[in-house]
Amino acid sequence: MRLFAPGAATPYRAAMRIAVVAETRPGERRVAAVPDTVALLVRQGHAVFVQAGAGAGSWVDDADYRAAGAEVVDGDVTADADVVLHVRPLLPQDTARLRRGAVTIGLMSVSTELDGVRALAQAGVTSFAMELVPRISRAQSMDALTSQALVAGYRCALEAAMRLPRFFPLFMTAAGTVPPAKVLVLGAGVAGLQAIATARRLGAVVEAYDVRPASADEVRSMGATFVDLGLDAIEGAGGYARELGEERARRQAELLAPYVAKSDALITTAAIPGRPAPRLVDAGMVAAMRPGSVVVDLAADSGGNVEGSVAGQEVQVGGVRIVGMLDPASGMPVDASRLYAKNLTNLLALMVGDDGALAVDLADEVLAGACVTHEGAVRHEPTRLLLEGV
Ligand SMILES: NC(=O)c1ccc[n+]([C@@H]2O[C@H](COP(=O)([O-])OP(=O)(O)OC[C@H]3O[C@@H](n4cnc5c(N)ncnc54)[C@H](O)[C@@H]3O)[C@@H](O)[C@H]2O)c1
Repeated sequence: MRLFAPGAATPYRAAMRIAVVAETRPGERRVAAVPDTVALLVRQGHAVFVQAGAGAGSWVDDADYRAAGAEVVDGDVTADADVVLHVRPLLPQDTARLRRGAVTIGLMSVSTELDGVRALAQAGVTSFAMELVPRISRAQSMDALTSQALVAGYRCALEAAMRLPRFFPLFMTAAGTVPPAKVLVLGAGVAGLQAIATARRLGAVVEAYDVRPASADEVRSMGATFVDLGLDAIEGAGGYARELGEERARRQAELLAPYVAKSDALITTAAIPGRPAPRLVDAGMVAAMRPGSVVVDLAADSGGNVEGSVAGQEVQVGGVRIVGMLDPASGMPVDASRLYAKNLTNLLALMVGDDGALAVDLADEVLAGACVTHEGAVRHEPTRLLLEGV
């Protein structure tokens, strides 16, 4: 395609046509490119096409994209695209419009959106799932799980603070001293640590627990107390947790119960890759909390860490309010989009050859790990097995 570079008198050949779609899933407010990342791609010689209104949920106008060098397009932007950038999984009907050999990059929810994966394979599209980017040092700048978990953890602490009918910080006033709130965080991964940091900044006294041994020092470095239950550490592959046996889970809940009961706010963020979220807190533990206490369950959408939590809703159980988080990063779309868009462009940079054209090297560990479909086949083994019903 021949284009005129901004300010240039002669046409030039764009290295790649990159499309940014408007998200269509209900409640999704993020966008896969922001003006800064568009400007970067344009400077690299690519032509960027943004679907009209794509940035609206993140407070980015079409005019901002134009000013960054993109062309804003009404309707479909993907038909001739070499690369399509998205946030939530593309729908099968959208995929059917892509050209064979096109590359898509975005979140794919591969274990639950199998129809989408099948459609991408049938369309001969090379798709990359941001959630499958290997968590190795070299890929840290492409790690959307981390960037979005950071937003989610921050929001969980704010949701708790806003609902608690008392202060987070200690106040010493002429009218008396108000003690700080006690916050308990269960699951101290990326989101949990960010929830701890945010609750600490607001002045709460924070305790936290995680099954991974490495998390104890991380919790302490955030100014919180690590709850040592005296149980065996549980660690699976890649530094992640693994599922607890029934007896270990029961014992853990029993030992955690007094910590839950004395907390004013409980924030749960526990997850196990590829599995439903572990149930950490049962109805009895919630019932033992003081009236007015608040529970925020970040895992509500994937099974729930807390019995009774409902994704996207706030429910009252006795005197306790339970907030079931749903798409928390989307609720803070400006910074979530900014970080996500940067993760995307950093991953895309691995697929660009010296001449600026697409050059996908699936021998690269990062691209191989994130690639779901290529040349008609499903390359991601767990997804392929799911599709085959194995
Ligand atoms: N690029 C990198 O190297 C990189 C990037 C991000 C994270 N990490 C590492 O990955 C790990 C976890 O990251 P995450 O936040 O994505 O994890 P995650 O979202 O999968 O899980 C959240 C937390 O829940 C904990 N958990 C699971 N079951 C539990 C249970 N029954 N009780 C209590 N806690 C439970 C996990 O240990 C984890 O800390 C950490 O070791 C983190 O340092 C590495």
